[in-house]
Amino acid sequence: MATDVITLITQDHRVVEGIFDKLKKGQGDQKALVFELHALLLAHARAEEDRVYPGIDAHHSVEEHKEAEVLLDSLVRARPGTAEFAKALDDLIESINHHVEEEETKLLPSLKKSADAKELERLGKAFQQRRAEELAALGSPTEPTRAELYEQAQQAGISGRSQMGKEELAQAIQEGKS
Ligand SMILES: [Fe+2]
Ligand SMILES: [Fe+2]
Repeated sequence: MATDVITLITQDHRVVEGIFDKLKKGQGDQKALVFELHALLLAHARAEEDRVYPGIDAHHSVEEHKEAEVLLDSLVRARPGTAEFAKALDDLIESINHHVEEEETKLLPSLKKSADAKELERLGKAFQQRRAEELAALGSPTEPTRAELYEQAQQAGISGRSQMGKEELAQAIQEGKS
């Protein structure tokens, strides 16, 4: 698995776009997707600001992170299915798409030119570590995903788990403990 900073950052961008896509189509648990998006975007932005941007001229990018954070807050506060939610989502997508395009066409290519392979690996590790710290800190108040619940159910040996939805899995795990 590649661990250079450019690959890692680009991978995150694609994951974010995947979540946007599901939110736009109204697929899956919208609240859970927003929680996931919130944690991922904040952790990604912090890791970039603290471990990657310092070596390059990225003032403009930091400003865009701030703008995106405000829009993200509006999305977190909005109720899925409402007009506010749709508007907050569109605004956030527009802002992030613009930012991602700039990173991928300007910042990352210039970083690639200025750093050798070893340095890109070193930055990759630093980025990943900082991102993981932030995710751990942000992840606690959020609800577990279905995949996480499924894993817990598997460990607990709960039968019929593959047919269960998120709520049923959570309930079965609770019952298994008591
Ligand atoms: Fe990024
Ligand atoms: Fe960024």
